[in-house]
Amino acid sequence: MAHQVKGVVAKSKGEPVSIETIEVPNPGSGEVLIDVKACGVCHTDLHYREGAINDEFPFLLGHEAAGLVEEVGEGVTGLAVGDFVILNWRAVCGHCRSCRRGRPWNCFSTHNATQKMKLDGKELSPALGIGAFAEKTLVAAGQATKVNPEAKPEVAGLIGCGVMAGLGAAMNTGQVSRGDSVAVFGCGGVGDAAIEGSRLAGAHTIIAVDIDSTKLEWAKEFGATHTIDSSKVDPVEAIREITDGNGVDVAIEAIGLPITYEQAFYSRDLAGTVVLVGVPNPEMKIELPMIEIFGRGGTLKSSWYGDCLPSRDFPMLIDLYLQGRLELDRFVSETIGLDEVEEAFHKMERGEVLRSVVIL
Ligand SMILES: NC(=O)c1ccc[n+]([C@@H]2O[C@H](COP(=O)([O-])OP(=O)(O)OC[C@H]3O[C@@H](n4cnc5c(N)ncnc54)[C@H](O)[C@@H]3O)[C@@H](O)[C@H]2O)c1
Ligand SMILES: [Zn+2]
Ligand SMILES: [Zn+2]
Repeated sequence: MAHQVKGVVAKSKGEPVSIETIEVPNPGSGEVLIDVKACGVCHTDLHYREGAINDEFPFLLGHEAAGLVEEVGEGVTGLAVGDFVILNWRAVCGHCRSCRRGRPWNCFSTHNATQKMKLDGKELSPALGIGAFAEKTLVAAGQATKVNPEAKPEVAGLIGCGVMAGLGAAMNTGQVSRGDSVAVFGCGGVGDAAIEGSRLAGAHTIIAVDIDSTKLEWAKEFGATHTIDSSKVDPVEAIREITDGNGVDVAIEAIGLPITYEQAFYSRDLAGTVVLVGVPNPEMKIELPMIEIFGRGGTLKSSWYGDCLPSRDFPMLIDLYLQGRLELDRFVSETIGLDEVEEAFHKMERGEVLRSVVIL
């Protein structure tokens, strides 16, 4: 029998979200039912409700979540009822051309649950294939990664999206290593996680760039050694000054704007790396002299979900957190109820929070 639970739904473009009673099926083959314990409010949820991702309304929002496995479907191995798990966007297939080459983090054929959750008989589109602003949600088994249950759910869930994207942009995509200099453009949840990741990887100089002075203060708490307010000074010049005129080894763009991508491009040292983790919209374009792309050498990379492999990265990051080596509590600005998601969107737009996290 399907479960009737409360969930936060975006019914139509731009309308405030509402709490609805939704129908969640019992897990079928390869699926698991999750008793959601916490779910962070991410910018992407707001993008869905604004119709900026696609128009497949109604959306069941929420995707930065941790919870307990409540029921496992047929054929599911490696997960049992009661396991504490972090959810991820996409279950890796194991046999596409990327998986076969030993690069499952790039899997080109990921999947979500096959059965649909519904509102009044109409299929819901779960945000990023998850839909976790809900008391229960249904995901593919590969979307749930077991981690140490001693971690608080409101902290653990954040690993499932923005924090992983930022940590991974530095540690996986940018391959930041001991002694590197790094600049991070945009100090929201993703940028601050990139700062943390750079610190953890042993970066020597970590330069935070933002136009909001409060965000720059927070960035210091995550490990930035220098801050630049790019509404006041040219960040490329300021970065050169800090780095003996050379630029940084790794420049990470965590906003998704042409202007900040160009700043990142020009602020790296010869043979340096630029990582784009911010998501641009389809209209954005950049123009760069080709000679600069050639002449500077190095690498221009994009980071999808921090190039993470949940089964490899989530348990390791939670262990580092529990050992006190990874600061995650600081990302949680407040904990809220399901009925406060709309207000949390406004706080996010006003730049007042890094993450509001719904507790269930
Ligand atoms: N690649 C991925 O897999 C992935 C995953 C999650 C999020 N993202 C993307 O990462 C980006 C950041 O997400 P977030 O949650 O940290 O967002 P956020 O809105 O919390 O943070 C953005 C920060 O950029 C700053 N900023 C805005 N314009 C600026 C400018 N012109 N110069 C300097 N700073 C500026 C803001 O003050 C803010 O601190 C978004 O584009 C998001 O969609 C990517
Ligand atoms: Zn997210
Ligand atoms: Zn694959």
